Amino acid sequence: MTLDLATDAMLVLIGPSGAGKSTFAARHFATTQVLSSDALRAAVADDPNDLSATDGAFELLHATLALRLGRGRLTVVDATNVEAWARARLLAEARRHRRPAAAIVFDLPLAVCLERNAARADRRLPPTAIRRQHARMRASLDGLAGEGFDQVTVLSTAEAVEAVRWSGGEA
Ligand code: CTP
Ligand code: MG
Repeated sequence: MTLDLATDAMLVLIGPSGAGKSTFAARHFATTQVLSSDALRAAVADDPNDLSATDGAFELLHATLALRLGRGRLTVVDATNVEAWARARLLAEARRHRRPAAAIVFDLPLAVCLERNAARADRRLPPTAIRRQHARMRASLDGLAGEGFDQVTVLSTAEAVEAVRWSGGEA
């Protein structure tokens, strides 16, 4: 499928750890277009795994998002975003700047996320955390349009993720 994304949009990636959000973002977008909670944890603490840096990382994420949306720059939010309150903050920012809000849900089978998590070299979460995030992602599906996303794309298989094209992207 071809992603029809406005050049001034906010794109929120939604999915549990291990779903492939960062892999997708790196493939389709410039690094400057991607706000990653892990990269921003590293930016404040030199360690993407340092959970004590989470508040600071999200402070930076929201501040940068606001500045970019103010300038009409396409911005991808690469965090799990499986909780409605986390998405609400992002949506408020897009609304404030009158930018379209798009969501891509990485609705992959739990087994795939667990398997990838177990095989990871960089960062591994306890399986219970992945299960919880996966359940929250599933519970979020029906409400996303009602939350204020203008466009919701649900990708339910690794093949569907692989098949995504975007007119502004490289792949
Ligand atoms: N991966 C894979 N095949 C894909 C996508 C990802 O094997 N099609 C692997 C990656 O190489 C990585 C792991 O799965 O080792 C998790 O992918 P990543 O993109 O980092 O997942 P995220 O959703 O970004 O996870 P997190 O929320 O923890 O950042
Ligand atoms: Mg990631």
